[in-house]
Amino acid sequence: MSAHAAAEELATLIRLLDRANRAYHTEDDPVLTDSDYDSLKRRNLALEEAFPDLKRPDSPSDQVGAPLAAGFGKVTHAQRMMSLSNGFSTADIVEFDRGVRRYLGLPEDAPLPYTAEPKIDGLSLSLRYEDGALVQAATRGDGAVGENVTANARTIDTIPQRLTGAPKVLEVRGEVYMRHADFAALNARQAEAGAKTFANPRNAAAGSLRQLDPAISAARPLAFFAYAWGEVSAPLADTQFGAIARLNAVGFDVNPLTTLCESPAQMIAQYDRIAADRATLGYDIDGVVYKVDDLGLQRRLGFRSTTPRWAIAHKFPAERAWTRLDGIDIQVGRTGALSPVARLSPVTVGGVVVSNATLHNEDYIAGRSGDGTPIRDGRDIRVGDWVEVYRAGDVIPKIRDVDPSRRPTDAVPFAFPTHCPECGSEAVREDGDSVRRCIGGLICPAQAVEKLRHFVSRAAFDIEGLGAKQIEYFFVDAHLPIREPADIFTLATRDRDTVARLENREGFGKTSVKNLFQAIEEKRKITLNRLIFALGIRHVGEVAAADLAQHFMTWDALVAAVDAAGPAAQAHLAADAAEADERAAALTDGRRASLKRARDAVWADVPEVARAAWADLTGIEGIGATVAVALVTTFQQKAERASIDRLASQLQVQEMAPRAASGSPVAGKTVVFTGTLEKMTRAEAKARAEALGAKVAGSVSARTDLLIAGPGAGSKADKAAELGIETIDEDGWLAMIGDA
Ligand code: IVH
Repeated sequence: MSAHAAAEELATLIRLLDRANRAYHTEDDPVLTDSDYDSLKRRNLALEEAFPDLKRPDSPSDQVGAPLAAGFGKVTHAQRMMSLSNGFSTADIVEFDRGVRRYLGLPEDAPLPYTAEPKIDGLSLSLRYEDGALVQAATRGDGAVGENVTANARTIDTIPQRLTGAPKVLEVRGEVYMRHADFAALNARQAEAGAKTFANPRNAAAGSLRQLDPAISAARPLAFFAYAWGEVSAPLADTQFGAIARLNAVGFDVNPLTTLCESPAQMIAQYDRIAADRATLGYDIDGVVYKVDDLGLQRRLGFRSTTPRWAIAHKFPAERAWTRLDGIDIQVGRTGALSPVARLSPVTVGGVVVSNATLHNEDYIAGRSGDGTPIRDGRDIRVGDWVEVYRAGDVIPKIRDVDPSRRPTDAVPFAFPTHCPECGSEAVREDGDSVRRCIGGLICPAQAVEKLRHFVSRAAFDIEGLGAKQIEYFFVDAHLPIREPADIFTLATRDRDTVARLENREGFGKTSVKNLFQAIEEKRKITLNRLIFALGIRHVGEVAAADLAQHFMTWDALVAAVDAAGPAAQAHLAADAAEADERAAALTDGRRASLKRARDAVWADVPEVARAAWADLTGIEGIGATVAVALVTTFQQKAERASIDRLASQLQVQEMAPRAASGSPVAGKTVVFTGTLEKMTRAEAKARAEALGAKVAGSVSARTDLLIAGPGAGSKADKAAELGIETIDEDGWLAMIGDA
C-alpha cells in the first residue's frame, strides 16, 4: 500500500471514529456496533504502525482509556520563569529598541548595547545550586510552578553536579535540547525496539526529560545551554554578557554564538549570520534572542505579566508546505464560537506532521477580512483545494494561501453553518464580530465541555489527575456525570455505587481515585483570581481576572459589585444601540446627530448605585466596558448564575493579598505621579510602583495616599494639599522604595 493511500484511509478513519465517538458519547445515539467500532480502531492502529510518520497528533489510538497522568512532584520557582515576546521582522526589532529607549528615557543616539544569541528549540529548565551542589531541577510549568525532574537532570552530562566559585545560592536557567545526531540515533533505536519514535528533537528532549524512570532518561542523550538565572545570593556580573561568561566559568556550557551588539543594525547582522549557520549547528534553533546588556537597565525595565521588557526573540520565518484540504470541520468553543478547522492530507512542516490547521472564521475562508476588504486577492478556500500551511513557533498551524489553478472542477464554496453542529441552536454573528457563536449556552454540550476543560486548566483550578481528557470521560458518562464545575466538588460525596464504578474503571483504580478526590479537596481553597479566570467568561483572561481580584479582594465584594452594576451594563449596551440609531436617523434626515443626547436619555433612568458600581468597575486599570459588559451579563444570565452560585457554595475563596511582596512600603497604597520626572519616564515610574504593590491613579481624590510631584506640578498638587494628602518629590519616592 502506498503512503498516499494510507494517508487517505487514515483521514477517513479519523473522521468515522470521531463521528462515532460523538454519536456514542455526546449524542447518546450510537451509529456503529461495538465490534465495527473496534475493527475500525484496529485498522487505524495497524496503518499507524505501518506508516508511523502518518500518525496524527489527534489520533484516535491515543484518545480513550489513557491512564491518569502519574506525575512528578511540583516545585514552586523562587522567581517566576518568564517567556519572551516575539518579533518577526527588522522593523519589529527596531521598534523594540525604540520602546526600550522610550521607557528608559534614553535618546536615540545614546549607547545601548544588547547581547544576541541563538534561541534554542528545546525546553527550559531551572537548576538550583546551594553551596555549589545541585539540589533541584524543575521544568518551567506555568512559570510559577514546575515539575521536579531532579533525578533526570542529574543524568545530563552538561549539567554539573557541583560548581566551583559560584554564589551560595544560584538558580541557573537554560535550555535542555537534543543534538540532531543523538536524535537520529535515538529514533533508530526506538524503531528497532518497536517503541514510539519522536517527531522532532524537541519532542524527544521533552519526552526524555519527563521520563518517570531516570534510567531511561539517562539512555537518551540530552544537553543543556545556560542563558539566564533566577535567585542568586550575590550578583553574577554587571552585564548580561559578563553573567553568561561567569556561568561558563563556574561550569556550564553557554552558546558560543553569543555576541555583543551596539545597535539594531548589528543585531540584525548577527541574526543573518546565525540564520546562515542554522543548518550546520547540529541542533535546532528557532530564532535569535536579544537582551539589554546592562543588568542595571534590565532591572529598571522589569517585566510585563509574563515577559521581560528587556528582551525579545527574533523568530525565524515560519516553515511552509502545500497539501490538500480534505475537509472543514466546525469546532464549538467555550464561548460558543464556531471555529472552522482544516483537515489536511498529512504533510511535514518544519519537522512536524501537520494534519489540522485553523481557518480562523467564515470571512477568512471566503477570502475577505472582517471589514470586507479582500484577503488573498479575494480567493476563497474550498474543500479539495491545495492550500499552503505554515507553523509559527508553537502555535496551531495556519493556512496562508490557496492555489486556484489546482482546484477540482466540482469544488463548491464552503457554506458556513448557521446552526451549531453540536446542539442545533442558532449560531449568530453580532455586529462587528467576525465570529459566529452558538447561542445554546449551557445546553450546548460542546460549550459545556469546553468550559469544564478551561475550568481545570493550568492557570485555573489545575487539579492533579483531572485534565481535559478525564473531564471528557466524566462529561459523557451517564452514571458519573460532571456537567458543570460544581459537580467536580460533589464527586467524592456521591453514593457508594458511583465511587465503586469509578474505582473499577480502566485507568483508575482505588489509589488513583483516592488521589483524585484528595487533589479535588485541595482545590476547594482557591485564590480569587484563579476562580474568576476559571469561570471562562468571554474577554476575562488571566490578566483581567487578576486585575478584578486585586481590586475587589473578596468573592463577595466582586459579586455584590457586579450585581449592582447590572442596570448600568444594560444601559451601556442600550446607549450604544441608541447612538447607532441616532447616527442612522441623522444620516437620513441630513441633520447633525446628537449622540450625547441619545446616550444620556438611556442613562437617565439608571439608579445612582448602579452608575457608581459601573464607574468603579470600568475604572479598574485594564478593565474596559467590553470586559465589564461580559462579566455583568454572565452573572445576570439565570442558568449561568445558578451554576456559578452552586460552584461558589462548594469553595472557600481566598481573600487576595496585596499585590507585592509584603514589606514594600507602598504596597496597597494609591499613588499619583504629577509634574516632570527626571530620573525615570512616566511608564517606568508606573510599572515599578505597580510591581511594588501600589495602585497608580491618574487623578487625586480622597482615596489617594501619596502624591509624587516633580517640577511643574499644577492643580494635582493643589488638590492634594487641600485634601491633606502626603506629597513628596521624585528623590523622596526613590528613597521610599529603596532605590535612591
Ligand atoms: S531568555 C527572562 N534565552 O524561549 C528571559 N530564552 O520563547 C528568559 N529560550 O521560555 C528566557 N533560547 O525556554 C532565553 N537564549 C535564550 C533562549 C531562550 C531558548 C526559550 C526559553 C523561553 C522561551 C521563550
